[in-house]
Amino acid sequence: MPVPARLLSREVLPFLGSFTALTLLALSIDGLLHLFDLLWVGRWLGIPGTLLIIGSTVYSLRKHKVIHRGHPAKLLRWHELLAWFGSLLVLVHAGVHFNAILGWLAVWAMLINVGSGLTGKFLLDRSRRRMEEARQRMRERGLGEEELEDGLYWDSLTFDVVKQWRLVHFPITLAFSVLATAHIVAIFLFWGWK
Ligand code: HEM
Ligand code: HEM
Repeated sequence: MPVPARLLSREVLPFLGSFTALTLLALSIDGLLHLFDLLWVGRWLGIPGTLLIIGSTVYSLRKHKVIHRGHPAKLLRWHELLAWFGSLLVLVHAGVHFNAILGWLAVWAMLINVGSGLTGKFLLDRSRRRMEEARQRMRERGLGEEELEDGLYWDSLTFDVVKQWRLVHFPITLAFSVLATAHIVAIFLFWGWK
């Protein structure tokens, strides 16, 4: 496949697809809940959604060796899946009701978080592919000094991008956590269940 087509199909499309699927699915489920007069279900979906997102961060605990069980690479896949699915439930939970600003700020922070998570995923996948390709090239042609240098340079660049991305992802996650917690505390203080 030519490089631009490969870039589109491997990197851009999954990214956009995942985000579009999230919004379209949330809108459809919310539409169904409205249709069948089941809005109360959406109200409760905030809880499993939040639990899934919290559960997905087990990956972080494993990565920083707070816990020792589980395979980090597998847990990262679970992190991506559970955070995505939890965000879907929270989006349905938020629905199209506009009474409280705090919850909406949390939703925006969550969406930015998901967008950032997806960006990180593709940066990581890309650097992994580059490493793999560089290794393959070395295997095929023997250890050409210049090429080795070249490959390592690109690898370090892509890893730098990943490192910089982490610096952005963390404060976004923090903002999301603070806003979501504030919303949840406000709900339990004023108990606005309808
Ligand atoms: C334990 C988890 C959660 C519980 C128990 C919960 C509970 C509730 C309840 C009872 C409402 C209805 C408030 C009303 O209509 O006056 C509500 C609305 C809402 N929640 Fe949550 N929620 C949770 C998590 C979240 C999270 C994580 C987010 C965002 C990331 C969120 C965003 C929203 C939004 C946007 C609304 C709509 C506010 C509006 O009507 O304008 N919720 N939540
Ligand atoms: C509400 C949504 C999300 C939250 C709160 C969240 C939270 C986090 C946190 C706290 C980390 C840091 C892990 C660490 O270094 O300790 C992280 C890393 C990461 N997340 Fe998410 N995330 C969310 C959604 C997503 C999604 C949807 C994806 C991809 C599909 C994703 C992919 C990643 C990747 C690839 C990493 C980097 C792994 C690493 O550097 O070791 N995240 N996320």
